[in-house]
Amino acid sequence: MISTALVHLSLSRFRSHTKTELDIEPKPVILFGANGVGKTNILEAVSLLAPGRGLRRKPLSDATQRGSLQPWAVHAKLSRQDGVFSIGTGLEAVSNGHRRLVRVDGSHASAGALAQLMRQVWLTPAQDRIFSGARGLRLKFFDRLVFSLFPEHAKAVSSYEKAMRQRQKLLDDGGAEPAWLDGLEQQMAQFAFLLMQNRNQTMQRLIQEIETSPDSAFPKADLELVGEDELAVLTAKCPIDENALRTGFGRSRHNDARAGRCLTGPHRADLRVSWAVKQMPASECSTGEQKALLVGLTLAHAKAVSAHQQACAPIILLDEACAHLDERRRAALIDELCQLKGQAWLSGTDRSLFEHFGNRAQFFEIKETGAMSGQAS
Ligand SMILES: Nc1ncnc2c1ncn2[C@@H]1O[C@H](COP(=O)(O)OP(=O)(O)O)[C@@H](O)[C@H]1O
Ligand SMILES: [Mg+2]
Repeated sequence: MISTALVHLSLSRFRSHTKTELDIEPKPVILFGANGVGKTNILEAVSLLAPGRGLRRKPLSDATQRGSLQPWAVHAKLSRQDGVFSIGTGLEAVSNGHRRLVRVDGSHASAGALAQLMRQVWLTPAQDRIFSGARGLRLKFFDRLVFSLFPEHAKAVSSYEKAMRQRQKLLDDGGAEPAWLDGLEQQMAQFAFLLMQNRNQTMQRLIQEIETSPDSAFPKADLELVGEDELAVLTAKCPIDENALRTGFGRSRHNDARAGRCLTGPHRADLRVSWAVKQMPASECSTGEQKALLVGLTLAHAKAVSAHQQACAPIILLDEACAHLDERRRAALIDELCQLKGQAWLSGTDRSLFEHFGNRAQFFEIKETGAMSGQAS
């Protein structure tokens, strides 16, 4: 039974949507319609009801409707076990550009307040290529999973990277005071330790969720985070603590200066995924199999977030997730989504992709103008 759901959504001047309002039942939501009618735009708007840049990872100012003098805004009513909350976000014009605004129940709030009220899990077509793509994309994908469990992870990652860039600049310029480098390495160590802890805990929860879940149409994934052990070699300490990290960064100064980049640290980690039963690396699986692995991982992740966050289950955004799945897996996905405590939002070009929901979901046909015809079937 769904315990966390958006029961109203309103988009103003948001990409193709001049003004779009949806009244929603606490059921899964299906957005269907032709290419380019604005389905992903709606999912993106929902994803911005969380800290960060949303599921397109684009600058926030890009989302303002072209030609509009006023910036975009998104409002929603969020229903949880403990009540209904009015949440909203958007941009406000300031002298040197735009500033993000967040409101909770009519009062100004921080973006972090949104993360406290609602967690989100999403899967987009852009993530389909992560297994064969660059390591950095996979690590970003994994950090996004971590972030749904530990919202403070985003700050730890950005603070670590900022200290790393400042240290590298000093190393590149040469002749920096050792005390400056010491200070920056201390900061790097502090944030590296935090972010590694968040990642390890997320990994443990995901693995536990996958191991304890019954067999389904979705393959179980073997997950491993690799590349962090280089640090253990460097620091000769395992498990690594903050002091060992600081020592390690200090010892690698010379090499990092020569290389022009920081050669070791948690920014060098990689997520290794394989199809457990077949012992097949995900990168060698077919497109459809990779999608099935990703969907399985997303479902496991949603359950892990639910288990961690008793008060509110995550909202799940699945953009075009059914497109590469065969009929059996599509039906299995739909049945699984109906079991979750957080509301699922799905997009697709054709209503027939979602027929297996029957009357368990609410269907909205999106039309060219962004106008909506809600048809709860
Ligand atoms: N800032 C913007 N202002 C107006 N229209 C936009 C903006 N950004 C994107 N669009 C339009 O939104 C449409 C794409 O919407 P999208 O949600 O991706 O479609 P789909 O229904 O296929 O998921 C395109 O027609 C694009 O031109
Ligand atoms: Mg789309």
